[in-house]
Amino acid sequence: MSMRAAFLSTALALEPWVEEMRRHMPELELVAGGDDESLEIALAWQPHQGALARLPNLRLVHALGAGVEELLADPGLGAHVKVVRLVDPAMTAAMGEYVQLQVLRLHRQDLTYRAQQAAHEWRELPQPSAAERRVGILGLGALGSEAALRLSVLGFDVAGWSRSERRHRGFACHHGSDGLAALLARSDILVCLLPLTPETENILDARLFAALPAGAALVNCGRGAHLVESDLIAALDGGHLSAAVLDVVRAEPLPPDHPFWTHPRIVLTPHAAAATDPRTAAPIVADALRRFAGGEAVRNLVDRARGY
Ligand SMILES: NC(=O)c1ccc[n+]([C@@H]2O[C@H](COP(=O)([O-])OP(=O)(O)OC[C@H]3O[C@@H](n4cnc5c(N)ncnc54)[C@H](OP(=O)(O)O)[C@@H]3O)[C@@H](O)[C@H]2O)c1
Repeated sequence: MSMRAAFLSTALALEPWVEEMRRHMPELELVAGGDDESLEIALAWQPHQGALARLPNLRLVHALGAGVEELLADPGLGAHVKVVRLVDPAMTAAMGEYVQLQVLRLHRQDLTYRAQQAAHEWRELPQPSAAERRVGILGLGALGSEAALRLSVLGFDVAGWSRSERRHRGFACHHGSDGLAALLARSDILVCLLPLTPETENILDARLFAALPAGAALVNCGRGAHLVESDLIAALDGGHLSAAVLDVVRAEPLPPDHPFWTHPRIVLTPHAAAATDPRTAAPIVADALRRFAGGEAVRNLVDRARGY
């Protein structure tokens, strides 16, 4: 049975999606911009302003990325519309690699060695073992749990934090506000892989930094709005935090005069930790659309009240 869906994105090119969806779902026609009131399904990532509102018959939006905060904030998204987020094992693996790289960089004191090289300074630093390095992961979803597992395989002393109680083999799990205090107190390196919700916005602030051990480091690959940027600069300059790796920032691209560009204890990457790849995402989207059309349960539905 043929199916039509709107393709709504200011950020993603249509052609690769048309090609990959054709491969995995030949019965689907993608309608760019979606200017057809009868459409019931949309694939969306940073849609044009007002695009969702022009689809009064919309029943399902499949996000073409993991975070859905922008879609949920779109005033054109009807309250009854189901939203599916993208959970792609290739994206999970890419994020796992990124977190491994950055935690190893911090663990092996790479920022200090780079600074020493720039100063022509040959000086070996005392090096704790991975088992002596406590890593905390905020968010134990698709991405956070895989990152935690990979770090525990590398030998780090890993623990994670989620909203509800979780159990994972290989690392300790904390939850709720009491659990957060316990996690922070034992995190030499803190990795944020939370979704952006009203509850998690600005969570990486002065109060949270003060609850970390002296000399702790931060890796933020959630969203820029998790972080209070001025609080990070103050914690780094005051010496309580030793370093930060940021894949996401509040204003992307980062403005040219932003202090993060030149801060000696900040490593920046341009929201590159785990990008959507239509080659691996298309079969996942196709599966969700088929399930939806067949009246079956669709996986990875967003809980709209919870915000993720
Ligand atoms: N930088 C990048 O390139 C990039 C790429 C992809 C995604 N991301 C970001 O990564 C985020 C996470 O993705 P995901 O697929 O892992 O999400 P997910 O599967 O929905 O997992 C979210 C996790 O966060 C926890 N959480 C949510 N709200 C919380 C709260 N108030 N207190 C404590 N824990 C809370 C959840 O707890 P429960 O387990 O109890 O539900 C869950 O463990 C995305 O939303 C996106 O912002 C970034």
